[in-house]
Amino acid sequence: MMNPISISITKSSNSKIPETNFSSLVFGKTFSDHIFVSDYQNGAWGDFRIVPYGPIDIYPSNASLHYGQTIFEGLKAYKNEYGKVLIFRPEANARRLNESAIRMCMPPLPEDIFMEALRQLLTLDQDWVPKEKGSSLYIRPFMFAMDNYLGVKPSDSYRFMIFTSPVGAYYTKPVSVKVETSYTRATEGGTGEAKAGGNYAASLYPALQAQNEGYDQLLWTDGKTHSHIEESGTMNVVFKIKGTLITAPTTKGTILKGITRDSVLQLAKDWRQAVEERFLTVTELQESLENGSLEEAFGLGTAATIAFIDKIHVNGKDYFLTEPSQEAFSKRALKTLDGIKYGDLQDPHQWMLSISKINGKGAV
Ligand code: COI
Repeated sequence: MMNPISISITKSSNSKIPETNFSSLVFGKTFSDHIFVSDYQNGAWGDFRIVPYGPIDIYPSNASLHYGQTIFEGLKAYKNEYGKVLIFRPEANARRLNESAIRMCMPPLPEDIFMEALRQLLTLDQDWVPKEKGSSLYIRPFMFAMDNYLGVKPSDSYRFMIFTSPVGAYYTKPVSVKVETSYTRATEGGTGEAKAGGNYAASLYPALQAQNEGYDQLLWTDGKTHSHIEESGTMNVVFKIKGTLITAPTTKGTILKGITRDSVLQLAKDWRQAVEERFLTVTELQESLENGSLEEAFGLGTAATIAFIDKIHVNGKDYFLTEPSQEAFSKRALKTLDGIKYGDLQDPHQWMLSISKINGKGAV
């Protein structure tokens, strides 16, 4: 495909790279020099531009500030040993962004525009992609309503933006979780599977209660009966019980269709590892913790990557899990995914896309 859009570029005259310490990156606090912007007006996306990262002007009556019509994505770019920039499964994020957009009455963004925006933004800011293993460039595409109107209705105008942030690990140590059986993250028919800002806003209060009790995250249960495990606040979750991986299915509309989740399930299939995509009940989880049949518990997410869970609180009781061995599924999966992402291992599913190959472009 040829260049689908023309993007005007205004370069920053003051790069922040010299003042950035790439060897001590924390998640989500450092932002690269440029941002991609497009506006949706009169039924079409246009005014494609890359400008220096900085504040944006919006009116106090901006509809997204009031009624939360806002969605986002998260994906990562890596640098291989030859300095080539590779993005992990960006087309999957482009598709999921549009699924979220449809659920939130927002206009889908053509995938080739998403990809071209990524290509040009990452080409310009390629020096922001960290070389250090364990670090990456987190990419945050997002879309929000732009109408200045107080009536409750879908906006007629929208803005789409992509900025990037060099990051280290989201979790720097194993994660402790509490099974949540009072508050609800999502119910069938709700917006649980959309990557909508409001889902995260609604989770803050219950998560804070758990954090005040000393846990890092919640394990959400279903909204109707609170009897089975759905996902965690920042990641999908998997349990390995008696040799089988068990993770909640994404068919009820309550769970985020994680791209890391999908990739790890593909690795499991490649390795003929038994998997059950089914709801694990809280009772089963507690029994497996009591009788020692729970072998591994881990979260999966773009930011979290594969995060080991070392403590689970169920029905008033804390259970501790030992660090998995190097042969454990989660350790092997993390090693393999990292090897693929940094270009050290073969990429049999063609998950890594070089920015130089996007939209049929030659080398940058
Ligand atoms: C991601 O993993 O990319 C997410 O969007 C989760 C977010 C809570 C950081």
